[in-house]
Amino acid sequence: MTRFGAGAVGQRVVVKALTWHGTRDVRVTDLPDPAIEAPTDAIVQITSTAICGSDLHLYEVMGPFLDEGFVLGHEPMGIVQEVGSEVTGLQPGDRVVVPFNISCGSCWMCGQGLQSQCETTQVRDQDPGYGASLFGFGRQYGNVPGGQAEYLRVPQAQYGPIKVPEGPPDDRFLFLSDVLPTAWQAVQYADIPPGGSVAVLGLGPIGDMATRIAQHLGAGTVIGIDLVPERLERARDHGVDVIDLTRTDDVVAMAQEATGGRGPDAVIDAVGMEAHGSPSGKVAQKLAGLLPDALQEKLMEHAGVDRLGALHLAIDLVRRGGTINLTGVYGGMADPMPMMTMFDKQVRLTMGQANVRRWTDDILPLLDDADPLGVDGFATHHLPLAEGPDAYATFQDKGDGMIKTVLRP
Ligand SMILES: NC(=O)c1ccc[n+]([C@@H]2O[C@H](COP(=O)([O-])OP(=O)(O)OC[C@H]3O[C@@H](n4cnc5c(N)ncnc54)[C@H](O)[C@@H]3O)[C@@H](O)[C@H]2O)c1
Ligand SMILES: [Zn+2]
Ligand SMILES: [Zn+2]
Repeated sequence: MTRFGAGAVGQRVVVKALTWHGTRDVRVTDLPDPAIEAPTDAIVQITSTAICGSDLHLYEVMGPFLDEGFVLGHEPMGIVQEVGSEVTGLQPGDRVVVPFNISCGSCWMCGQGLQSQCETTQVRDQDPGYGASLFGFGRQYGNVPGGQAEYLRVPQAQYGPIKVPEGPPDDRFLFLSDVLPTAWQAVQYADIPPGGSVAVLGLGPIGDMATRIAQHLGAGTVIGIDLVPERLERARDHGVDVIDLTRTDDVVAMAQEATGGRGPDAVIDAVGMEAHGSPSGKVAQKLAGLLPDALQEKLMEHAGVDRLGALHLAIDLVRRGGTINLTGVYGGMADPMPMMTMFDKQVRLTMGQANVRRWTDDILPLLDDADPLGVDGFATHHLPLAEGPDAYATFQDKGDGMIKTVLRP
C-alpha cells in the first residue's frame, strides 16, 4: 500500500520527535520513520499534538520510569497514512484523533467501559502490573512511543482512532484525545446531583474543562480553585465561582458559604501529585530525583513522597456523604491518608485514568459550530514542534499565560 501523500512504504525517512533525556530535559530528535509492526497498527501523520499536565509529571518526577530518548506525547491527531491488514474501519487519508489509552475494544474490560484497564494492552511485565498501555508514558505504561512527533505508530487501530469530519480546524477535535473525555469522566464519576454543587481543584486544562462540562450537564453551583491568576480569570469568565488559594487561608469555609454551609456535593481533584503548598513533599520528590535510577524507582513506588495537598483539601472540602473524584494523577505507594476523616464523613472516592472511548460518542456531537464547551479558543499557544522543549519549560513554570499548548509538527 502506498503512503498517503508520502513516499512508498519501506522508504526509510527520518522524522522529528520530542524525546525525554532526563529531568527537565526534552529535546527535538531525528528518529527513523515508524512502520506497521502488527496487522492492527496504523501510521498517522500528526498535524496537531498537545502538551498535557501529565507530561509535566514525566518532565519533573517520573524520570525513573523513562528511558533516555523515549518519545513523549499522548494527545495527537492527524491523517492516516497506512493501515495494517486487520484495520478495516480506517483508510489512508482519514482524519483521526488518537486517544491516549491504547485499548482493543473487545476484551472484558473494554466491554465494561473500562478501556484504560484493557486486558489486551495491560502492562504485565512490570511489578506491580499496570492498566492499559498509554502513548508516551514510559515503562509503567507499555513504553509505547508517543505522539509529539511527525509520525506515530498507532497500535489497536481497529478500535482506538476516532474519525472526525473535514472542515473545522484541528482544535475543534484535538481535545477528544484526552482533555474532553478525562474531564467528562471526572464529572460523571463525581456524581453531582441535578442542580447540585461541585468544587474543582486545579484550573489547568482538565479542571477548566471539568467546570465547563459540569455547567453544561446541569450542576447548580460550580466552584473553581487555583492559584494562578490567568487560570482563575478564565474560569471566572465562563461563570465559575472562583477561589484564589493565595488570597484566603480558609478555602473550606468559603466553599461551605457557597453551598448552604455543608460543603460541595462533589469535589474533583484536577491537580494531582504536584500540588503546591506542601514543602516537605517537594523536598522528598527532589531527593528522589537525586538518587540512582533503581533507587528512585523504589522510592517513588514504595515511599510516600507525593505532595498530597490537593487530595487532603478535597477530603476537607467535600460535604458529608459526598463524592470525590481524583482525576489528577497520584503515583506513590505508601502515602498517608486521613482514614478517620474519610470514614467519618462517609466519603465516596472515585479515580483513575480516563476510559477515553467510553465517552467520545457522547462528546462528539458537542463539537459543532455552536461550540458549547469552548474548544475552539481553548488552547492558549500554537507552536511548531521544534519549539516543544521551550514550551515544556514555560508550561512547567506556568509562564507566559500558558494553559494549553498545541504543537504543529
Ligand atoms: N486521569 C486521567 O485520565 C488524566 C488525564 C489527563 C490529565 N490528568 C491529570 O490531571 C491533572 C491536571 O492536568 P492539567 O493538564 O490540567 O495540568 P496543569 O498542571 O496544567 O493543572 C494543574 C493546576 O493545579 C493548580 N494547583 C496546584 N496546586 C494546587 C492546589 N493545592 N489546589 C488547587 N489547585 C492547585 C495549578 O496551579 C494548575 O493550574 C494532572 O495531574 C494530570 O496528570 C489525568
Ligand atoms: Zn493528557
Ligand atoms: Zn480491551
